[in-house]
Amino acid sequence: MAQRGRLAGKSVIITGAASGIGLGTAELFMEEGAKLVLVDLQPEMLEQAVTRLHDASGECVSVCGDVSEPYTITRAVQRAIETYGKIDVVFNNAGIMPTGPVTEYPDESWDRVMAVNLKSMFMMCKMVIPEMLKQGGGSIVNMSSVMAGLTEPGYTAYTASKAGIIGLTKEIAVSYSEQGIRCNAICPGWVDTEMNRKVAEDMGGMDKLQPLIKRQQPLGRMATVREVGYAVLFLASDESTAVSGSCLYVDGASSASI
Ligand SMILES: NC(=O)c1ccc[n+]([C@@H]2O[C@H](COP(=O)([O-])OP(=O)(O)OC[C@H]3O[C@@H](n4cnc5c(N)ncnc54)[C@H](O)[C@@H]3O)[C@@H](O)[C@H]2O)c1
Repeated sequence: MAQRGRLAGKSVIITGAASGIGLGTAELFMEEGAKLVLVDLQPEMLEQAVTRLHDASGECVSVCGDVSEPYTITRAVQRAIETYGKIDVVFNNAGIMPTGPVTEYPDESWDRVMAVNLKSMFMMCKMVIPEMLKQGGGSIVNMSSVMAGLTEPGYTAYTASKAGIIGLTKEIAVSYSEQGIRCNAICPGWVDTEMNRKVAEDMGGMDKLQPLIKRQQPLGRMATVREVGYAVLFLASDESTAVSGSCLYVDGASSASI
C-alpha cells in the first residue's frame, strides 16, 4: 500500500523530468508531499508534465534547458530557492545513450555524453551544496546505471560516464557527510522507458529485445519507472539518513548474474 508524506514539505529538483524515470519519480514524489522543480530540454513534454502534476494538485515549477549548460543549472537552483526557499533533495537524472564502437565513436559524441551525463551532475552539486550547507543538509541522488560496472560492446562513453558518476557520488559523500549532505547513486538495469523503446526499434522491434532482457535480467522483464522511483524515494527521504556513498541497484539481479 502506498505511503503518503514521506517527502512532506521537501523542495526537490529533478532533471530529465519530462519523461521516463524522471517523470515517474516526479509523480511519486508529488504523491509523497514534495514541492518540485522539473528540469528538461523538451519544452512541450515539460509543459505537459507540469500540467499533469498541477492537475493532481501538486506544487510544481519548471526550468526548460539543457543540463550541460551552467545557466540551466543556475536557473534551476535559483527557481527552487525563489519558489520554496530551500533545496532538500536533488535527483540528477538526465542522461543520454548514443552508442558506437570506440574506433568509430565521434569525439563530439564523447564530449556530449560526458557533458550531459557527468559534468551536469558535477555542476549541479557545485551549485546546490552551498545552499544545502546553509540549511544544515540535504540529499543528492545521482542516476548511474548497472552499466557503470558491467557493459557490452558499443556503450563507449555511456559506460565511462556512468562509472564516473559513481566516483563523483562517493567523493561528495565522503566530503560532506559530516555536514548532513548525503549523496548516493541509483543503478538500474533494463527499465521500460523511451530510451529502451529506441533500443528495441533499432533491433527491429520489442520482440527482438525481449530475449536479451530475459538473458541479462533474471527478473525476466524490464523494471517500471515506479519501481526505480521507489528506490530514489528511499534515498531522498529521511528514512535513509545513515546511507551515503552507496549505489542502490534496481536491476532485477542483472549485476548478480554471470
Ligand atoms: N531506461 C533504462 O533502462 C535506464 C537504465 C539505467 C539508467 N538509466 C538512466 O536513467 C536516466 C533517465 O533515462 P530514461 O530511461 O528515463 O530516459 P528518457 O529518454 O525516457 O528520459 C530522459 C529525459 O532526460 C531529458 N534530457 C536528455 N538530455 C537532456 C539534457 N541535456 N538536458 C535536460 N534534459 C535532458 C530528456 O528530454 C528526457 O525527458 C538516464 O540518465 C539514463 O541513463 C536508464
